Amino acid sequence: MKQKIKKIINKKNKSKIVCLTAYSKSFAKILDKFCHIVLVGDSVANVLYGLDSTHKISLKNIIQHTQSVKKAISKSLLVVDMPKGTYQSKKQAKKNAKLVMKATGCDAIKLESNNKNFDIIKDLIKNKIPVMGHIGYTPQFKKKFKLEGQTDKEANKLLKEATAIEKAGAFSIVLECISSKTAKLITNKLSIPTIGIGSSNFCDGQILVTDDMLGLSGFYPKFVKKYASLDRIIEKAVKKYTLDVKLNKFPSKKNFLND
Ligand code: KIV
Repeated sequence: MKQKIKKIINKKNKSKIVCLTAYSKSFAKILDKFCHIVLVGDSVANVLYGLDSTHKISLKNIIQHTQSVKKAISKSLLVVDMPKGTYQSKKQAKKNAKLVMKATGCDAIKLESNNKNFDIIKDLIKNKIPVMGHIGYTPQFKKKFKLEGQTDKEANKLLKEATAIEKAGAFSIVLECISSKTAKLITNKLSIPTIGIGSSNFCDGQILVTDDMLGLSGFYPKFVKKYASLDRIIEKAVKKYTLDVKLNKFPSKKNFLND
């Protein structure tokens, strides 16, 4: 197992794991200073391409964004989301995951669980492809958003799923929109770290979509804490630029290339 991955696993019960998403070099350069894991998420579909679903992102798209992100990553673990439909069989998953790893130089891939694809995870790991699992609200497989794990029956089902993913060899697992009680149960039962999004602070680490927490995406559900309002900062700058151009204040002499 790669040293970088061992380091993440070893954080369990010691210190929290900090994760965020990135789709480009400029964001990755800042994130790499602070994050243990940077994820090139299929959320790029909604956030950057304005699509209504993550299903519409292709393997080629995710590879191109990861190639950009990789240019600025030196410390963090770089994880890439496998798009929907790219890991439906062992053969297809192996071919596509190998392509992603080779084309991008990433450290691991993430795939969403459909509560069936444990053998695919196992096979990827057998082929030396580190895998991060993802349970709870998994947009590739579930149409409607719902907070999961609210009843004992649901909690047991999610625990069983998480345990099967750990058994298959995943090095960590994202818990998306799972009740605090069930997130705590799963985190306590597993020996690999859990990374929460909308799943309370009982998880071993946290992830958010960077554009959401920076106030850029316009998507702010309750589980997102807005750490900045970059939309307002950008608007102010663009407004100032507009005024400068209209009043012939920009470019000024100091921006001339020939003086
Ligand atoms: O695509 C993504 O950004 C994700 C995170 C929300 C975990 O899967």
